[in-house]
Amino acid sequence: MQKKIVLLPGDGIGPAVTEAAASVLQQVADIFSHTFTFQEKQIGGAAIDTFGEPLPADTLQACKEADAILLGAVGGPEWDRQPPHLRPEKGLLQLRKGLGLFANLRPVKTFPSLLSSSPLKQEIVAGSDLLIVRELTGGLYFGTPSERRDEGQTVVDTLHYERNEIERIVETGFQSAMLRNKRLASVDKANVLESSKLWREIVDEKRKDYPEVAVEHMLVDSTAMKLITNPTYFDVIVTENLFGDILSDEASVLTGSLGLLPSASLRADALGLYEPVHGSAPDIAGKDIANPLGAILSAVMLLRYSFGMEKEADAVEAAVNEVLQSGFGTQDMQVKPESIVGTEKMTSLVIEQLMTAKVSS
Ligand code: NAD
Ligand code: IPM
Ligand code: MN
Repeated sequence: MQKKIVLLPGDGIGPAVTEAAASVLQQVADIFSHTFTFQEKQIGGAAIDTFGEPLPADTLQACKEADAILLGAVGGPEWDRQPPHLRPEKGLLQLRKGLGLFANLRPVKTFPSLLSSSPLKQEIVAGSDLLIVRELTGGLYFGTPSERRDEGQTVVDTLHYERNEIERIVETGFQSAMLRNKRLASVDKANVLESSKLWREIVDEKRKDYPEVAVEHMLVDSTAMKLITNPTYFDVIVTENLFGDILSDEASVLTGSLGLLPSASLRADALGLYEPVHGSAPDIAGKDIANPLGAILSAVMLLRYSFGMEKEADAVEAAVNEVLQSGFGTQDMQVKPESIVGTEKMTSLVIEQLMTAKVSS
């Protein structure tokens, strides 16, 4: 198959992890006789520095014409004092919104070989396997007004949803649950927020179409607690944009490192944006120590969701598992000191494993 992939490296460790994931995708193309063309575009701080804006029109256009997009991360202290429209993060938000990528899937699964990596007790994290379905183009991130008034004395952020925006993400939640263990936790703050009350009504309407799915309404504060005291309780969580952002970083501790978590941002057709859940990690940028596995596992999601390449996706996932099973890890994971490798080495271990598996199959 022939596919066009746009690469958006971004800032900090973004370029290093994007390069890692792209080289794994190139290897997949070689092994499985596909042609992937890669086109690199600017976003975030890198785009601000070169073009004076975080999402140049040319980048958005290239993304619209692509079959899939792979992004590293955006942001960094250099741009933290910029006005809101000139922040790197704004570029990412505009990209998600501009492409209509309303459904952000963030799977969190513990790797058996990494149980001791988590700061939580092994008996608590063992067997955790959940999916956070985060609404991505509405809610508190995009409601207007969002501004300072009265010379900064008053600030406003608005949590705004249209009924159809909630309906489509709730639908994604139910569909995801049907493909997994048929348990859906709809997470909100309905004891306080009007938007959450409508969210609950919609979930209660939709559950009639999915009688096999066990649905539970949960409040976000106690969900945050339960995620780390009893993570195996969860199968699919569907929730508002900001709640999903926070819960997914929290859930990353189950796997042992934020650097391991992938994500897919999807809409109704096959186009998707794939990016690790972590940020640009300025504290470790440029040192060849960033964990590339969150980005590589995002490429696995890309193969699966945008290209329908199941066996290719399985092969990369198996290669990652094999490398982890051998005890290797990056510095953010709790592995033996002699098994700590850098970004490039970790990537080449995954690629070697992919090639070995191909030869022996
Ligand atoms: P972060 O995710 O960048 O880093 C949090 C901690 O995790 C840091 O200690 C970092 O070193 C570590 N870490 C993150 N990814 C890692 C990896 N792959 N390997 C090893 N360690 C890793 O979050 P932050 O420090 O709060 O934010 C830094 C910048 O990133 C900010 O500008 C923020 O806005 C931006 N950000 C961007 C995205 C994105 O582009 N999707 C996501 C989150 C944060
Ligand atoms: C994420 C990030 C982004 C978000 C920021 C960088 C805008 O934290 O992808 O999780 O909040 O969505
Ligand atoms: Mn986040």
